[in-house]
Amino acid sequence: MSTMNFDAIPRWRLPGLLRAMPKAELHIHIEGSLEPELIFRLAQRNGVTLPYASVEALRAAYAFTDLQSFLDIYYAGASVLLKEEDFFDMAWAYLERAAADNVIHTEIFFDPQTHTVRGVPFETVIKGLDHACHRAHQEMRISAKLILCFLRHLSEDEAMATLEEALPYKHHFIGVGLDSSERGHPPEKFARVFARAREAGLHLVAHAGEEGPPAYIRSALDVLHVERIDHGVRCVEDPALVQRLAAEGMALTVCPLSNVKLCVFETMADHNLPALLAAGLKATINSDDPAYFGGYMNQNFMETFAALPQLGAREAYTLARNSFEASFADAGAKSHWINQLDLAFEEAASPQ
Ligand code: HPA
Ligand code: ZN
Repeated sequence: MSTMNFDAIPRWRLPGLLRAMPKAELHIHIEGSLEPELIFRLAQRNGVTLPYASVEALRAAYAFTDLQSFLDIYYAGASVLLKEEDFFDMAWAYLERAAADNVIHTEIFFDPQTHTVRGVPFETVIKGLDHACHRAHQEMRISAKLILCFLRHLSEDEAMATLEEALPYKHHFIGVGLDSSERGHPPEKFARVFARAREAGLHLVAHAGEEGPPAYIRSALDVLHVERIDHGVRCVEDPALVQRLAAEGMALTVCPLSNVKLCVFETMADHNLPALLAAGLKATINSDDPAYFGGYMNQNFMETFAALPQLGAREAYTLARNSFEASFADAGAKSHWINQLDLAFEEAASPQ
């Protein structure tokens, strides 16, 4: 809101405001929310043997050097998911954590191919996740939707087969995305499958410009016709692309703790989020894989703002507002959430 007096919000109020403000999460892989304790509990329940002796040994392996070193462990963790209730339990645990961080809307990625290759039916995956989303809406008043992601290290034919298998369940998810190993797997590899998803009326997003070059962001836009870019932080290497993203109001779902853990930036103080916002880009803050990268939404907000003094109350408001505007919710829900956000900031700006 242009009339909001951000300068009236004292700096000491910022941490409380970051935690309390309503927000949307637009980039969370549900398999990346599996905490080591839950991995071991599900392994025991399902008789799955893990290549790690204990919760502590598994956690100790979370020292990543790049995206691939993380993905190897992430896929091993997901191997304990077999039954509908496993998918429910995983999503329920995430939704409880998200609600505690005042996330009031979330668009959750899931990777069906990680499960169908192990013989888990697509229906088992989607039913467990969908059940958790519905129950969370009833019991915690959190709005939760699903986005199906294709694994880009696999072929387009496999992605197409996954989409065809998923389409009978189209009422249970709102869109499709593209994740896993980025380098060497450009968006255009999935042109046909995204065209088919578009025909089916699904929303489209793709990871691009996390480890891959700005050219991948361009082809996600021009070939896949995505509506948001997941990560996208490498756009700054191409100033004309930055201008275009700003002019189009294209949202970037930035994941600060993830970027530091996967060595996209050396430290949080090196993160380019302030530059992205200063360039007028519609950036948002998200947790990506919170069980692996050191925290959920509020931890991401707290550590990002603590390390980057350029970020203050104005940027907190912009990031939260962007998260609602860039969501795939309807206009009525968006304006309702933005009103709630305005109230939180007006209260913080008023004298005690
Ligand atoms: N990038 C790509 N694929 C992923 C990620 C990520 O950050 N998290 C889970 N799958
Ligand atoms: Zn991601």
